[in-house]
Amino acid sequence: MKKKILITCAFPYANGSIHIGHLLEHIQADILVRYKRMTNHEVWFICADDAHGTAITIKANENNISEEHLICKILKEHKRDLYNFDIIYNKYYSTHSKENLFFVKKAFFCLKKKKLINKKNIKQFYDNTKNIFLSDRYVYGSCPFCKSFKEYGDNCSSCGAFYSVTDLLNPISSFSKKTPILKKTVHLFFNISSFKNILKKWIFSDVFNNKILKKVLEWFNIGLKDWNISRDHPYFGFEIPGFKKKYFYVWLDATIGYISTFKKLSKDCNLNFEEFWNKKSNTKLYHFIGKDIVHFHSIFWPSLLHAMSFRKPTKIYVHGYVKINNKKLSKSKNYIISAKKWLKYFDSDSLRYYYASKISNGIEDININAEDFVYKINSGLVNKIINLALRNSKLINKYFDGMLSKNLENMSEYNNFLLKFKKIDVFFKHLKYKNIIIEILKISNFANSYINKKSPWSFVKKDSNLLYVQNVCSIGINFFRIIMTYMKPILPKLSKKVELFLNSKLSFKNLKFPLLNHRIYNMKILYKRVSIKNFNKLFKK
Ligand code: MSP
Ligand code: ZN
Repeated sequence: MKKKILITCAFPYANGSIHIGHLLEHIQADILVRYKRMTNHEVWFICADDAHGTAITIKANENNISEEHLICKILKEHKRDLYNFDIIYNKYYSTHSKENLFFVKKAFFCLKKKKLINKKNIKQFYDNTKNIFLSDRYVYGSCPFCKSFKEYGDNCSSCGAFYSVTDLLNPISSFSKKTPILKKTVHLFFNISSFKNILKKWIFSDVFNNKILKKVLEWFNIGLKDWNISRDHPYFGFEIPGFKKKYFYVWLDATIGYISTFKKLSKDCNLNFEEFWNKKSNTKLYHFIGKDIVHFHSIFWPSLLHAMSFRKPTKIYVHGYVKINNKKLSKSKNYIISAKKWLKYFDSDSLRYYYASKISNGIEDININAEDFVYKINSGLVNKIINLALRNSKLINKYFDGMLSKNLENMSEYNNFLLKFKKIDVFFKHLKYKNIIIEILKISNFANSYINKKSPWSFVKKDSNLLYVQNVCSIGINFFRIIMTYMKPILPKLSKKVELFLNSKLSFKNLKFPLLNHRIYNMKILYKRVSIKNFNKLFKK
Protein backbone atom coordinates (compact mmCIF):
# COMPACT_ATOMS: atom_id res chain seq x y z
CA MET A 1 0.00 0.00 0.00
CA LYS A 2 1.21 3.47 -0.81
CA LYS A 3 2.29 5.24 2.37
CA LYS A 4 2.67 8.94 3.09
CA ILE A 5 5.87 9.47 5.00
CA LEU A 6 7.48 12.55 6.49
CA ILE A 7 11.21 12.05 7.05
CA THR A 8 13.49 14.42 8.97
CA CYS A 9 17.15 14.71 9.88
CA ALA A 10 18.32 16.46 13.04
CA PHE A 11 18.81 20.16 12.45
CA PRO A 12 22.50 21.04 12.19
CA TYR A 13 23.56 23.96 14.37
CA ALA A 14 24.08 27.12 12.37
CA ASN A 15 27.47 27.66 13.95
CA GLY A 16 29.70 25.72 11.60
CA SER A 17 30.03 23.85 8.34
CA ILE A 18 28.46 20.55 7.44
CA HIS A 19 31.08 17.86 8.00
CA ILE A 20 31.28 14.18 7.22
CA GLY A 21 29.86 13.36 10.66
CA HIS A 22 26.64 15.19 9.81
CA LEU A 23 26.64 13.65 6.36
CA LEU A 24 26.34 10.13 7.75
CA GLU A 25 22.85 10.97 8.98
CA HIS A 26 21.73 12.86 5.88
CA ILE A 27 23.01 10.11 3.59
CA GLN A 28 21.39 7.39 5.70
CA ALA A 29 18.05 9.18 5.54
CA ASP A 30 18.36 10.20 1.89
CA ILE A 31 18.94 6.59 0.81
CA LEU A 32 15.70 5.57 2.50
CA VAL A 33 13.88 8.54 0.97
CA ARG A 34 15.03 7.57 -2.52
CA TYR A 35 14.25 3.91 -2.02
CA LYS A 36 10.75 4.64 -0.69
CA ARG A 37 10.06 6.95 -3.61
CA MET A 38 11.28 4.32 -6.07
CA THR A 39 8.83 1.88 -4.47
CA ASN A 40 6.00 4.37 -5.01
CA HIS A 41 5.51 5.88 -1.58
CA GLU A 42 4.82 9.57 -1.10
CA VAL A 43 7.79 10.88 0.83
CA TRP A 44 8.42 14.39 2.15
CA PHE A 45 11.93 15.06 3.33
CA ILE A 46 12.61 18.09 5.52
CA CYS A 47 15.36 19.62 7.60
CA ALA A 48 16.40 23.05 8.85
CA ASP A 49 19.19 24.91 10.52
CA ASP A 50 19.06 25.08 14.28
CA ALA A 51 19.65 28.79 14.56
CA HIS A 52 19.26 29.65 18.26
CA GLY A 53 21.10 29.26 21.53
CA THR A 54 24.45 30.10 23.01
CA ALA A 55 26.45 28.13 20.45
CA ILE A 56 25.30 30.59 17.79
CA THR A 57 26.12 33.67 19.85
CA ILE A 58 29.59 32.39 20.67
CA LYS A 59 30.35 31.81 16.99
CA ALA A 60 28.90 35.17 15.91
CA ASN A 61 31.03 36.94 18.53
CA GLU A 62 34.13 35.10 17.33
CA ASN A 63 33.47 36.35 13.83
CA ASN A 64 32.48 39.83 14.92
CA ILE A 65 29.12 39.65 13.21
CA SER A 66 25.54 39.60 14.43
CA GLU A 67 23.75 36.31 15.06
CA GLU A 68 21.31 37.10 12.24
CA HIS A 69 24.16 37.65 9.82
CA LEU A 70 25.83 34.39 10.86
CA ILE A 71 22.74 32.19 10.55
CA CYS A 72 21.89 33.67 7.18
CA LYS A 73 25.39 32.97 5.83
CA ILE A 74 25.51 29.45 7.30
CA LEU A 75 22.06 28.57 5.99
CA LYS A 76 23.17 29.21 2.40
CA GLU A 77 26.32 27.16 2.96
CA HIS A 78 24.49 24.23 4.54
CA LYS A 79 21.94 24.07 1.73
CA ARG A 80 24.68 24.10 -0.89
CA ASP A 81 26.80 21.44 0.84
CA LEU A 82 23.88 19.04 1.30
CA TYR A 83 22.68 19.58 -2.25
CA ASN A 84 26.15 18.77 -3.53
CA PHE A 85 25.84 15.35 -1.90
CA ASP A 86 22.47 14.90 -3.61
CA ILE A 87 20.63 15.32 -0.35
CA ILE A 88 17.70 17.18 -1.75
CA TYR A 89 15.17 18.30 0.80
CA ASN A 90 11.63 19.24 -0.10
CA LYS A 91 12.21 22.04 2.39
CA TYR A 92 15.37 23.10 4.18
CA TYR A 93 14.34 25.88 6.52
CA SER A 94 15.51 27.65 9.68
CA THR A 95 14.24 27.64 13.26
CA HIS A 96 14.59 31.43 13.19
CA SER A 97 11.35 31.81 11.23
CA LYS A 98 7.94 33.33 11.74
CA GLU A 99 6.31 29.91 11.42
CA ASN A 100 8.51 28.59 14.21
CA LEU A 101 7.75 31.54 16.46
CA PHE A 102 4.05 30.87 15.85
CA PHE A 103 4.27 27.20 16.85
CA VAL A 104 6.57 27.83 19.80
CA LYS A 105 4.04 30.32 21.17
CA LYS A 106 1.25 27.89 20.44
CA ALA A 107 3.10 25.17 22.35
CA PHE A 108 3.69 27.52 25.25
CA PHE A 109 0.03 28.54 25.49
CA CYS A 110 -1.07 24.89 25.24
CA LEU A 111 1.25 23.94 28.09
CA LYS A 112 0.10 26.89 30.17
CA LYS A 113 -3.55 26.14 29.59
CA LYS A 114 -3.05 22.54 30.60
CA LYS A 115 -1.18 23.71 33.71
CA LEU A 116 1.94 21.89 32.63
CA ILE A 117 4.31 24.75 33.37
CA ASN A 118 5.65 25.49 36.81
CA LYS A 119 7.55 28.60 37.77
CA LYS A 120 10.45 27.82 40.05
CA ASN A 121 12.99 29.97 41.79
CA ILE A 122 16.29 28.25 41.20
CA LYS A 123 19.96 28.98 41.47
CA GLN A 124 21.84 29.36 38.21
CA PHE A 125 25.47 30.07 37.42
CA TYR A 126 26.26 33.73 37.18
CA ASP A 127 29.41 35.43 35.95
CA ASN A 128 30.23 38.24 38.38
CA THR A 129 32.72 39.90 36.07
CA LYS A 130 30.25 40.16 33.17
CA ASN A 131 27.08 40.39 35.24
CA ILE A 132 25.21 37.78 33.24
CA PHE A 133 23.60 34.42 33.83
CA LEU A 134 25.49 31.63 32.16
CA SER A 135 23.35 29.19 30.26
CA ASP A 136 24.45 25.87 28.79
CA ARG A 137 27.44 26.50 26.60
CA TYR A 138 28.65 29.53 28.51
CA VAL A 139 29.73 27.10 31.20
CA TYR A 140 31.81 23.98 30.93
CA GLY A 141 32.99 21.42 33.40
CA SER A 142 33.17 17.68 33.95
CA CYS A 143 30.23 15.40 33.27
CA PRO A 144 28.64 14.33 36.58
CA PHE A 145 28.19 10.81 35.20
CA CYS A 146 31.28 9.82 33.20
CA LYS A 147 33.56 12.63 34.48
CA SER A 148 34.57 13.52 30.90
CA PHE A 149 36.33 16.88 30.94
CA LYS A 150 35.19 20.10 29.21
CA GLU A 151 31.58 19.16 28.64
CA TYR A 152 28.90 21.81 28.19
CA GLY A 153 26.05 22.52 30.54
CA ASP A 154 23.14 20.72 28.86
CA ASN A 155 24.36 17.27 27.94
CA CYS A 156 27.50 15.20 27.75
CA SER A 157 29.02 14.66 24.32
CA SER A 158 30.95 11.72 25.66
CA CYS A 159 28.39 9.49 27.40
CA GLY A 160 25.18 11.18 26.19
CA ALA A 161 23.93 11.86 29.71
CA PHE A 162 21.46 14.66 30.18
CA TYR A 163 21.70 16.92 33.23
CA SER A 164 21.16 20.44 34.51
CA VAL A 165 23.94 22.94 34.09
CA THR A 166 24.36 23.14 37.87
CA ASP A 167 25.17 19.41 37.99
CA LEU A 168 28.47 20.03 36.18
CA LEU A 169 31.57 19.25 38.24
CA ASN A 170 34.17 22.02 38.49
CA PRO A 171 32.18 24.54 36.40
CA ILE A 172 34.07 27.30 34.59
CA SER A 173 32.60 30.39 32.93
CA SER A 174 33.69 30.56 29.32
CA PHE A 175 33.86 34.37 29.61
CA SER A 176 36.06 34.91 32.65
CA LYS A 177 37.50 31.37 32.84
CA LYS A 178 36.66 31.59 36.54
CA THR A 179 34.32 29.54 38.69
CA PRO A 180 30.89 31.16 38.43
CA ILE A 181 28.74 31.91 41.46
CA LEU A 182 25.20 30.65 42.01
CA LYS A 183 22.44 33.24 41.90
CA LYS A 184 18.68 32.98 42.24
CA THR A 185 16.49 33.42 39.18
CA VAL A 186 12.99 32.38 38.09
CA HIS A 187 12.66 29.65 35.46
CA LEU A 188 9.83 27.88 33.71
CA PHE A 189 9.63 24.10 33.94
CA PHE A 190 7.66 21.76 31.76
CA ASN A 191 6.11 19.03 33.88
CA ILE A 192 7.28 15.93 32.06
CA SER A 193 6.56 13.33 34.75
CA SER A 194 2.82 13.56 34.14
CA PHE A 195 3.49 12.01 30.71
CA LYS A 196 5.15 8.91 32.07
CA ASN A 197 2.42 6.46 31.10
CA ILE A 198 1.77 8.00 27.72
CA LEU A 199 5.46 7.95 26.91
CA LYS A 200 5.84 4.38 28.07
CA LYS A 201 3.08 3.25 25.80
CA TRP A 202 4.63 5.11 22.91
CA ILE A 203 8.18 3.83 23.36
CA PHE A 204 6.89 0.27 23.24
CA SER A 205 5.24 0.87 19.88
CA ASP A 206 8.38 -0.20 17.97
CA VAL A 207 9.82 3.31 17.70
CA PHE A 208 13.39 2.48 18.64
CA ASN A 209 15.73 -0.43 18.23
CA ASN A 210 16.29 -2.54 21.33
CA LYS A 211 19.51 -0.94 22.53
CA ILE A 212 17.99 2.52 22.49
CA LEU A 213 14.80 1.25 24.08
CA LYS A 214 16.86 -0.08 26.97
CA LYS A 215 18.59 3.25 27.41
CA VAL A 216 15.28 5.13 27.39
CA LEU A 217 13.85 2.74 29.97
CA GLU A 218 16.86 3.46 32.18
CA TRP A 219 15.94 7.14 32.10
CA PHE A 220 12.39 6.25 33.03
CA ASN A 221 13.66 4.29 36.01
CA ILE A 222 15.83 7.15 37.21
CA GLY A 223 12.67 9.27 37.05
CA LEU A 224 11.54 12.01 34.69
CA LYS A 225 12.57 15.40 35.95
CA ASP A 226 10.78 18.61 35.00
CA TRP A 227 12.40 20.25 32.02
CA ASN A 228 13.65 23.82 32.23
CA ILE A 229 12.45 25.46 29.02
CA SER A 230 13.60 29.01 29.77
CA ARG A 231 16.93 30.80 29.59
CA ASP A 232 18.04 34.16 30.89
CA HIS A 233 19.23 37.12 28.89
CA PRO A 234 21.61 37.25 26.99
CA TYR A 235 20.25 34.52 24.74
CA PHE A 236 19.64 34.38 21.00
CA GLY A 237 16.16 32.97 20.57
CA PHE A 238 12.46 33.67 20.99
CA GLU A 239 11.41 35.78 23.95
CA ILE A 240 8.85 34.17 26.25
CA PRO A 241 5.54 36.08 26.14
CA GLY A 242 4.87 37.78 29.45
CA PHE A 243 8.41 37.31 30.77
CA LYS A 244 10.96 40.05 30.32
CA LYS A 245 14.50 39.01 29.47
CA LYS A 246 13.56 35.34 29.36
CA TYR A 247 13.90 33.21 26.26
CA PHE A 248 12.77 29.78 25.21
CA TYR A 249 15.51 27.17 25.51
CA VAL A 250 16.87 26.33 22.06
CA TRP A 251 15.87 22.66 22.31
CA LEU A 252 12.22 23.63 22.65
CA ASP A 253 12.15 25.67 19.48
CA ALA A 254 14.48 23.25 17.65
CA THR A 255 12.16 20.27 17.95
CA ILE A 256 9.12 22.41 17.22
CA GLY A 257 11.03 23.30 14.08
CA TYR A 258 9.99 19.90 12.70
CA ILE A 259 6.40 21.13 12.77
CA SER A 260 7.06 24.63 11.49
CA THR A 261 9.33 23.46 8.68
CA PHE A 262 6.58 21.15 7.52
CA LYS A 263 4.09 24.01 7.87
CA LYS A 264 6.21 26.08 5.48
CA LEU A 265 6.46 23.15 3.08
CA SER A 266 2.72 22.55 3.24
CA LYS A 267 2.07 26.17 2.31
CA ASP A 268 4.54 26.08 -0.57
CA CYS A 269 3.39 22.72 -1.93
CA ASN A 270 -0.25 22.81 -1.01
CA LEU A 271 -0.17 19.87 1.38
CA ASN A 272 -2.66 19.12 4.08
CA PHE A 273 -0.86 20.06 7.31
CA GLU A 274 -3.42 18.37 9.55
CA GLU A 275 -3.15 15.11 7.69
CA PHE A 276 0.47 14.82 8.80
CA TRP A 277 0.32 16.24 12.34
CA ASN A 278 -3.16 15.49 13.60
CA LYS A 279 -3.31 13.22 16.63
CA LYS A 280 -5.05 10.58 14.54
CA SER A 281 -2.78 10.93 11.53
CA ASN A 282 -2.32 7.83 9.41
CA THR A 283 0.86 9.13 7.87
CA LYS A 284 4.29 8.04 9.06
CA LEU A 285 6.81 10.27 10.79
CA TYR A 286 10.44 9.08 10.77
CA HIS A 287 13.25 10.98 12.50
CA PHE A 288 16.94 10.33 11.92
CA ILE A 289 19.17 11.38 14.80
CA GLY A 290 22.54 10.67 16.38
CA LYS A 291 22.89 8.81 19.64
CA ASP A 292 23.80 12.03 21.48
CA ILE A 293 20.33 13.54 21.15
CA VAL A 294 18.08 10.60 21.99
CA HIS A 295 16.97 12.13 25.27
CA PHE A 296 15.47 15.15 23.57
CA HIS A 297 13.66 13.01 21.04
CA SER A 298 12.45 10.24 23.33
CA ILE A 299 11.25 12.27 26.31
CA PHE A 300 10.81 15.97 25.58
CA TRP A 301 9.70 15.90 21.99
CA PRO A 302 6.87 13.32 22.32
CA SER A 303 5.72 15.06 25.53
CA LEU A 304 5.50 18.36 23.69
CA LEU A 305 3.63 16.73 20.83
CA HIS A 306 1.21 15.09 23.20
CA ALA A 307 0.60 18.34 25.06
CA MET A 308 -0.08 20.10 21.76
CA SER A 309 -2.48 17.32 20.72
CA PHE A 310 -0.28 16.38 17.78
CA ARG A 311 0.75 12.91 16.63
CA LYS A 312 3.92 11.22 17.88
CA PRO A 313 6.80 9.88 15.76
CA THR A 314 6.45 6.46 14.16
CA LYS A 315 10.16 5.65 14.10
CA ILE A 316 13.28 7.22 15.48
CA TYR A 317 16.35 5.86 13.73
CA VAL A 318 19.43 6.41 15.84
CA HIS A 319 22.95 6.15 14.47
CA GLY A 320 26.40 6.10 16.03
CA TYR A 321 29.24 8.54 15.60
CA VAL A 322 31.65 8.79 12.69
CA LYS A 323 35.28 8.39 13.71
CA ILE A 324 38.41 8.58 11.61
CA ASN A 325 41.10 6.03 12.48
CA ASN A 326 39.08 5.30 15.61
CA LYS A 327 39.44 8.87 16.83
CA LYS A 328 36.52 11.20 17.51
CA LEU A 329 36.08 14.08 15.09
CA SER A 330 37.06 17.40 16.59
CA LYS A 331 36.66 20.89 15.22
CA SER A 332 39.07 22.42 17.68
CA LYS A 333 41.79 19.89 16.89
CA ASN A 334 41.14 20.29 13.17
CA TYR A 335 40.46 16.57 13.03
CA ILE A 336 37.44 16.92 10.82
CA ILE A 337 36.57 16.79 7.12
CA SER A 338 34.04 19.31 5.89
CA ALA A 339 31.61 18.39 3.13
CA LYS A 340 33.26 20.99 0.92
CA LYS A 341 36.73 19.57 1.52
CA TRP A 342 35.58 16.06 0.64
CA LEU A 343 34.40 17.26 -2.75
CA LYS A 344 37.79 18.77 -3.48
CA TYR A 345 39.29 15.28 -3.68
CA PHE A 346 36.42 12.84 -4.22
CA ASP A 347 32.91 12.81 -5.57
CA SER A 348 29.82 12.62 -3.37
CA ASP A 349 28.86 9.09 -4.47
CA SER A 350 32.11 7.71 -3.10
CA LEU A 351 31.14 8.81 0.42
CA ARG A 352 27.56 7.65 -0.07
CA TYR A 353 28.78 4.22 -1.20
CA TYR A 354 31.35 4.01 1.57
CA TYR A 355 28.87 4.96 4.29
CA ALA A 356 26.28 2.58 2.88
CA SER A 357 28.86 -0.21 3.13
CA LYS A 358 29.19 0.55 6.86
CA ILE A 359 25.68 1.42 8.00
CA SER A 360 23.66 -1.16 9.84
CA ASN A 361 20.56 -0.20 11.75
CA GLY A 362 22.47 -0.11 15.04
CA ILE A 363 24.13 2.59 17.10
CA GLU A 364 27.74 1.42 16.80
CA ASP A 365 30.22 4.11 15.86
CA ILE A 366 31.38 4.11 12.28
CA ASN A 367 35.10 4.10 11.84
CA ILE A 368 36.53 5.23 8.56
CA ASN A 369 40.07 5.12 7.24
CA ALA A 370 42.01 5.56 4.04
CA GLU A 371 42.83 1.91 3.25
CA ASP A 372 39.31 0.71 3.90
CA PHE A 373 37.80 3.50 1.80
CA VAL A 374 40.12 2.93 -1.14
CA TYR A 375 39.62 -0.82 -0.98
CA LYS A 376 35.83 -0.54 -0.91
CA ILE A 377 35.68 1.83 -3.87
CA ASN A 378 38.36 0.32 -6.08
CA SER A 379 37.88 -3.37 -5.55
CA GLY A 380 34.15 -3.25 -4.89
CA LEU A 381 32.41 -0.52 -6.81
CA VAL A 382 34.90 -0.22 -9.69
CA ASN A 383 36.27 -3.75 -10.13
CA LYS A 384 33.09 -5.67 -9.52
CA ILE A 385 30.19 -3.44 -10.51
CA ILE A 386 31.49 -0.97 -13.09
CA ASN A 387 33.73 -3.55 -14.71
CA LEU A 388 30.72 -5.71 -15.51
CA ALA A 389 29.36 -2.92 -17.69
CA LEU A 390 32.71 -2.11 -19.19
CA ARG A 391 33.66 -5.55 -20.50
CA ASN A 392 30.24 -6.25 -22.02
CA SER A 393 29.62 -2.84 -23.52
CA LYS A 394 33.01 -2.86 -25.22
CA LEU A 395 31.99 -5.81 -27.39
CA ILE A 396 28.44 -4.56 -27.91
CA ASN A 397 29.76 -1.26 -29.19
CA LYS A 398 32.58 -2.70 -31.25
CA TYR A 399 30.71 -5.47 -33.04
CA PHE A 400 27.04 -4.55 -32.86
CA ASP A 401 27.02 -0.78 -33.11
CA GLY A 402 25.63 -0.54 -29.57
CA MET A 403 22.64 -2.80 -30.22
CA LEU A 404 21.63 -5.37 -27.64
CA SER A 405 20.37 -8.74 -28.87
CA LYS A 406 16.77 -9.19 -29.99
CA ASN A 407 16.08 -12.02 -27.55
CA LEU A 408 17.63 -13.59 -24.53
CA GLU A 409 18.62 -17.17 -25.14
CA ASN A 410 17.19 -18.13 -21.85
CA MET A 411 14.72 -15.84 -20.13
CA SER A 412 14.79 -17.91 -16.94
CA GLU A 413 18.43 -16.95 -16.43
CA TYR A 414 17.31 -13.33 -16.30
CA ASN A 415 14.42 -14.09 -13.97
CA ASN A 416 16.57 -16.19 -11.66
CA PHE A 417 19.05 -13.38 -11.47
CA LEU A 418 16.28 -10.95 -10.56
CA LEU A 419 15.17 -13.26 -7.74
CA LYS A 420 18.55 -12.82 -6.07
CA PHE A 421 17.53 -9.24 -5.19
CA LYS A 422 14.53 -10.16 -3.01
CA LYS A 423 16.70 -10.04 0.11
CA ILE A 424 17.88 -6.57 -0.80
CA ASP A 425 14.38 -5.17 -0.56
CA VAL A 426 14.21 -6.41 3.02
CA PHE A 427 17.61 -4.87 3.80
CA PHE A 428 16.46 -1.50 2.47
CA LYS A 429 13.33 -1.60 4.59
CA HIS A 430 15.40 -2.28 7.72
CA LEU A 431 18.13 0.19 6.83
CA LYS A 432 20.70 -2.59 6.68
CA TYR A 433 22.66 -0.86 3.96
CA LYS A 434 25.83 -2.72 4.85
CA ASN A 435 24.09 -5.98 3.95
CA ILE A 436 22.88 -4.48 0.69
CA ILE A 437 26.44 -3.78 -0.40
CA ILE A 438 27.62 -7.24 0.71
CA GLU A 439 24.79 -8.84 -1.25
CA ILE A 440 25.29 -6.64 -4.33
CA LEU A 441 28.96 -7.57 -4.44
CA LYS A 442 28.10 -11.26 -4.18
CA ILE A 443 25.64 -10.90 -7.03
CA SER A 444 28.19 -8.94 -9.08
CA ASN A 445 30.70 -11.71 -8.53
CA PHE A 446 28.16 -14.17 -9.81
CA ALA A 447 27.47 -12.03 -12.88
CA ASN A 448 31.15 -11.59 -13.64
CA SER A 449 31.92 -15.28 -13.37
CA TYR A 450 28.90 -16.05 -15.54
CA ILE A 451 30.45 -13.87 -18.25
CA ASN A 452 33.90 -15.38 -17.63
CA LYS A 453 32.56 -18.86 -18.16
CA LYS A 454 30.90 -17.84 -21.42
CA SER A 455 34.03 -15.85 -22.43
CA PRO A 456 32.41 -14.00 -25.34
CA TRP A 457 35.72 -12.28 -26.26
CA SER A 458 37.18 -15.60 -27.47
CA PHE A 459 34.37 -16.01 -30.02
CA VAL A 460 34.60 -12.72 -31.88
CA LYS A 461 36.95 -13.96 -34.62
CA LYS A 462 34.33 -16.02 -36.41
CA ASP A 463 31.24 -14.35 -37.91
CA SER A 464 29.03 -17.33 -37.21
CA ASN A 465 29.70 -16.94 -33.48
CA LEU A 466 28.76 -13.28 -33.31
CA LEU A 467 25.15 -13.90 -32.35
CA TYR A 468 26.43 -15.85 -29.35
CA VAL A 469 28.69 -12.96 -28.38
CA GLN A 470 25.82 -10.49 -28.66
CA ASN A 471 23.54 -12.68 -26.55
CA VAL A 472 26.05 -13.18 -23.79
CA CYS A 473 27.05 -9.53 -23.61
CA SER A 474 23.41 -8.46 -23.67
CA ILE A 475 22.64 -10.56 -20.65
CA GLY A 476 25.74 -9.09 -18.98
CA ILE A 477 24.43 -5.58 -19.63
CA ASN A 478 21.01 -6.57 -18.33
CA PHE A 479 22.58 -7.97 -15.15
CA PHE A 480 24.39 -4.66 -14.71
CA ARG A 481 21.13 -2.78 -15.19
CA ILE A 482 19.43 -4.70 -12.38
CA ILE A 483 22.39 -4.17 -10.06
CA MET A 484 22.42 -0.45 -10.77
CA THR A 485 18.68 -0.13 -10.25
CA TYR A 486 19.15 -1.41 -6.72
CA MET A 487 22.12 0.90 -6.24
CA LYS A 488 20.22 3.94 -7.46
CA PRO A 489 19.12 5.17 -4.00
CA ILE A 490 22.74 4.96 -2.87
CA LEU A 491 24.50 6.36 -5.93
CA PRO A 492 22.41 9.11 -7.53
CA LYS A 493 25.20 10.67 -9.62
CA LEU A 494 26.49 7.41 -11.01
CA SER A 495 22.92 6.29 -11.68
CA LYS A 496 22.30 9.33 -13.87
CA LYS A 497 25.38 8.51 -15.92
CA VAL A 498 24.32 4.89 -16.17
CA GLU A 499 20.86 5.94 -17.38
CA LEU A 500 22.53 7.87 -20.20
CA PHE A 501 24.79 4.97 -20.99
CA LEU A 502 21.94 2.43 -20.98
CA ASN A 503 19.66 4.89 -22.70
CA SER A 504 16.97 3.85 -20.25
CA LYS A 505 15.66 4.93 -16.88
CA LEU A 506 16.55 2.77 -13.90
CA SER A 507 13.34 1.82 -12.12
CA PHE A 508 12.07 -1.28 -10.35
CA LYS A 509 9.01 -1.37 -12.54
CA ASN A 510 11.14 -1.50 -15.70
CA LEU A 511 13.02 -4.56 -14.52
CA LYS A 512 10.22 -6.93 -15.39
CA PHE A 513 11.41 -6.67 -18.97
CA PRO A 514 15.04 -6.95 -19.99
CA LEU A 515 16.51 -4.41 -22.39
CA LEU A 516 16.35 -6.10 -25.81
CA ASN A 517 16.87 -4.87 -29.33
CA HIS A 518 17.88 -1.65 -27.67
CA ARG A 519 20.72 0.77 -28.32
CA ILE A 520 23.17 1.54 -25.55
CA TYR A 521 25.85 4.19 -25.77
CA ASN A 522 29.55 4.18 -25.70
CA MET A 523 30.63 4.20 -22.13
CA LYS A 524 32.86 7.09 -21.19
CA ILE A 525 34.55 6.50 -17.84
CA LEU A 526 31.67 5.76 -15.50
CA TYR A 527 33.68 5.80 -12.32
CA LYS A 528 37.25 6.63 -11.46
CA ARG A 529 39.42 4.81 -8.97
CA VAL A 530 40.36 6.63 -5.79
CA SER A 531 43.74 6.88 -4.08
CA ILE A 532 45.09 6.86 -0.54
CA LYS A 533 47.19 9.89 -1.43
CA ASN A 534 44.05 11.96 -1.99
CA PHE A 535 42.43 10.68 1.20
CA ASN A 536 45.41 11.92 3.17
CA LYS A 537 45.13 15.32 1.52
CA LEU A 538 41.72 15.72 3.20
CA PHE A 539 43.52 16.61 6.42
CA LYS A 540 45.61 19.42 4.96
CA LYS A 541 44.58 22.94 5.95
N1 MSP B 1 20.83 21.12 16.61
C1 MSP B 1 20.81 19.85 17.25
C2 MSP B 1 19.71 18.97 16.66
C3 MSP B 1 18.33 19.55 16.79
S1 MSP B 1 17.12 18.49 16.10
C4 MSP B 1 15.65 19.25 16.40
C5 MSP B 1 22.15 19.15 17.01
N2 MSP B 1 22.92 19.67 16.04
S2 MSP B 1 24.37 19.12 15.61
O1 MSP B 1 24.79 19.93 14.52
O2 MSP B 1 25.23 19.04 16.75
O3 MSP B 1 24.14 17.65 15.15
C6 MSP B 1 23.21 17.36 14.12
C7 MSP B 1 23.17 15.84 13.90
O4 MSP B 1 24.45 15.42 13.44
C8 MSP B 1 22.88 15.07 15.19
O5 MSP B 1 22.00 14.01 14.92
C9 MSP B 1 24.24 14.54 15.57
O6 MSP B 1 24.17 13.31 16.26
C10 MSP B 1 24.88 14.35 14.21
N3 MSP B 1 26.34 14.35 14.28
C11 MSP B 1 27.17 15.36 14.67
N4 MSP B 1 28.45 14.91 14.65
C12 MSP B 1 28.47 13.62 14.25
C13 MSP B 1 29.44 12.63 14.04
N5 MSP B 1 30.74 12.83 14.25
N6 MSP B 1 29.04 11.42 13.58
C14 MSP B 1 27.72 11.14 13.33
N7 MSP B 1 26.78 12.03 13.54
C15 MSP B 1 27.12 13.29 14.01
O7 MSP B 1 22.43 18.19 17.69
ZN1 ZN C 1 29.34 11.95 30.41
